[in-house]
Amino acid sequence: MRTYLVTGGAGFIGSNYIHYMFRKYGDEIRIINVDALTYAGNPENLKEVENYDNYTFIKADIRDLDAIKKIFAENDIDRVVHFAAESHVDRSIVNPGVFVETNVLGTANMLNAARAAWEKPDGTYPEGKKFLHVSTDEVYGSLPDDDNAFFYETTPYQPHSPYSASKAGSDMLVRSYMDTYGFPANITNCSNNYGPYQFPEKMIPLMIHNALENKPLPVYGDGMNVRDWLFVEDHAKAIDMVQEKGKLFETYNIGGHNEKRNIEIVKIIIATLREMLPENDPRREHITEDLITYVEDRKGHDRRYAIAPDKIKKELGWEPETMFAEGIKKTIKWYFDNEEWLDHATSGAYQEYYEKMYSGR
Ligand code: NAD
Ligand code: TYD
Repeated sequence: MRTYLVTGGAGFIGSNYIHYMFRKYGDEIRIINVDALTYAGNPENLKEVENYDNYTFIKADIRDLDAIKKIFAENDIDRVVHFAAESHVDRSIVNPGVFVETNVLGTANMLNAARAAWEKPDGTYPEGKKFLHVSTDEVYGSLPDDDNAFFYETTPYQPHSPYSASKAGSDMLVRSYMDTYGFPANITNCSNNYGPYQFPEKMIPLMIHNALENKPLPVYGDGMNVRDWLFVEDHAKAIDMVQEKGKLFETYNIGGHNEKRNIEIVKIIIATLREMLPENDPRREHITEDLITYVEDRKGHDRRYAIAPDKIKKELGWEPETMFAEGIKKTIKWYFDNEEWLDHATSGAYQEYYEKMYSGR
C-alpha cells in the first residue's frame, strides 16, 4: 500500500485534497497528515475520515526538523504532498517573520528529511519516491491589466508580498534540490482557490460570512484587481495527476481561465446569496449591493493574476470540471450547511484579527 505524507492537511486545500484522495483511492492508500494546527488548521475539516484505519494525524511543526525526521524514520513514506504554509497575504504584510520560518525554513526541513530518508548511498533515489511542492501563481508577480497577458511556467519570478516572496524562496529551494541532488520532485503553481473549508479571512468566504451577518463587504482599493479562481477540487485533482502522470522535475501551472475582478466576485456572491436563501429568510432583505464598502487598498496589491494552463492540459489532459457559476453555489451551500464550522472559525482569535485588520480601513 502506498503511503502519503501530507503536510498542512488540516487547512483549506490540504483537507479537500485528503477527502479527494480517499474518495478516489479508498483503502488502496494510507495518508499521514502532519499539521501544526495553527489558526488556519482545523481538525473538524477531517472528522469524516479521522477514524479510517488508513488515516493518521500527527501534530507536528515543519519548523522542527527532528520531529519531521522522526516521522520519516518511523514510516516508509512513498509520496510527500507539501501544503503546509502560512498562506494569507495580509498577515504576511503585518508579520512577515513567520512566513520565512514556515514557508522557507519549513520547506528546507521537509526537503532535508525526505532526502535523508530516501537517498541511496550512490546518490540515487528508489523508484516511486516523489515529493510534490504545492505553490502559488503569486510568485510570478503582477500582470498588466491586459486580457492577453498570462503566467507561464517560464515566466520569471517577481514576487511582491512577503507571502509570495517566501513561497518563491521555497520553490527555489525545491528547484535547487532537484538540480543538485536529483531529488525526485515536482512543483505546482496554482491560481486562487475557493470552495468548502476555506478560512473566512480569504476574500470569498469573508464576503459570504459578512453578508450573512449584515456586515460591510470590504473591497480593497478600486475593486478592479483580477484573480483567477479555481474550485478547490479541481486543484486536488491536478495535484494527483501531476504525481501520477507528470514528468519528474517539471513545474506545472494550474488554473482554469476564470479571471474576474474582485468587485464582480462580490456582486456575484450577493446575487447568489439572494437567489439561494429561502423567500422568507429575513437575511435576504439586507443582502444588497449597499453592503459594499470600498476600503484602503492592500499595500503592494498585485493588480492581476492569470494562469496559462496549457502545459498541464496538453501533457496530462487535466481540465477543470467545476465552472464558477456552479462552484460558487456549491461553496455557498457548504457555508449554509456548516454554520457551526463557520462560528468556530470566526470566534476568538479570528475576531481579534478581524478587528485589528479592518478597524483602520
Ligand atoms: P491554509 O492556511 O488554509 O492551511 C495551511 C495549513 O498549514 C494549516 O492547516 C496550518 O495549520 C498548517 N501549517 C501552517 N504552519 C505550519 C507549520 N509550521 N507546521 C505544520 N503545519 C503548518 O492554506 P491553504 O489555502 O490550504 O494553502 C495550502 C498551500 O497551497 C499553501 O502552500 C499555499 O501557499 C498554496 N496555495 C494556496 C492557494 C489558495 O488560493 N489558497 C493557491 C495556490 C497555492
Ligand atoms: P485573498 O483571498 O486574500 O487572496 P490573494 O491575496 O492571495 O489573491 O484576496 C483576493 C483578492 O481580494 C485580492 O485582490 C485582495 C481582495 N480582498 C478584498 O478586496 N477584500 C478583502 O477583505 C480581502 C480579504 C481580499
